Amino acid sequence: MTQQHVPALVIGNWKMNGSLATNAALLESLRGDIASFGNVHVSVCPPFPYLAQSAALLAKSPISCTAQNLCHEAIGAYTGEVSASMLADIGCRYVLAGHSERRGLFGDSSERVAAKTRQALNAGLIPIVCVGETLAQREIGLTEATLAAQLLPTLAGLSASDLEKLILAYEPVWAIGTGHVATAEQITTVLHYLRKLVADKTGATKVAQSMRILYGGSVNAANASWLADLPEVSGVLVGGASLKAEDFSEICRSFGQR
Ligand code: 13P
Repeated sequence: MTQQHVPALVIGNWKMNGSLATNAALLESLRGDIASFGNVHVSVCPPFPYLAQSAALLAKSPISCTAQNLCHEAIGAYTGEVSASMLADIGCRYVLAGHSERRGLFGDSSERVAAKTRQALNAGLIPIVCVGETLAQREIGLTEATLAAQLLPTLAGLSASDLEKLILAYEPVWAIGTGHVATAEQITTVLHYLRKLVADKTGATKVAQSMRILYGGSVNAANASWLADLPEVSGVLVGGASLKAEDFSEICRSFGQR
């Protein structure tokens, strides 16, 4: 199933980087480059304190905002947390759930990721559920089992219409921030597996085939063109390179002109 008949989605995950001044410069540069992007959906994913700034600066542009995380509960006494409805309120379109840094560094379990996905859908946000294996898991043949364990609690809680909104991101942990991008074969094999897993577990074969699945992990201006040529890949989740305006624009062009 080719993904190339629908516009790709390119998201810049800024992680815990930025300031009012650097964000404004980056977004101004992106806005200036939009005309060259082609047919692609672009979103930026700033830290929470800068979402409102980004949403305001992008208000008249087709670039949307994505949040990096959200609370697994809807409202109440959860000091330090941010709810899905707050993110929707300030204009976010997408939200990440289960980024490997959340899973690995902050203890987000797959059940918690499922609850976050539920909250996102309830608030009208599009959840992007991230999955990915470590190098150790890959080396002992546990890639598929790891991805299944990460995704199954989320799939169990979704209706057919929820599933149609869901986006997945395959981000092998060993490729994040390392410069070691996965090979075309590794990406294609995993994306086939994820579609089969979704189809087998939900029975929604057609939805599984057309579901958007992003790749993330050391995407940069140089490798974006061959990644954009992979028919299975619906777009990319870009970390480090999304902080460099020229590089991120080049990645957007690669996917917009595929
Ligand atoms: P890098 O592009 O820096 O490897 O990060 C990938 C990532 O984690 C995006 O969410």
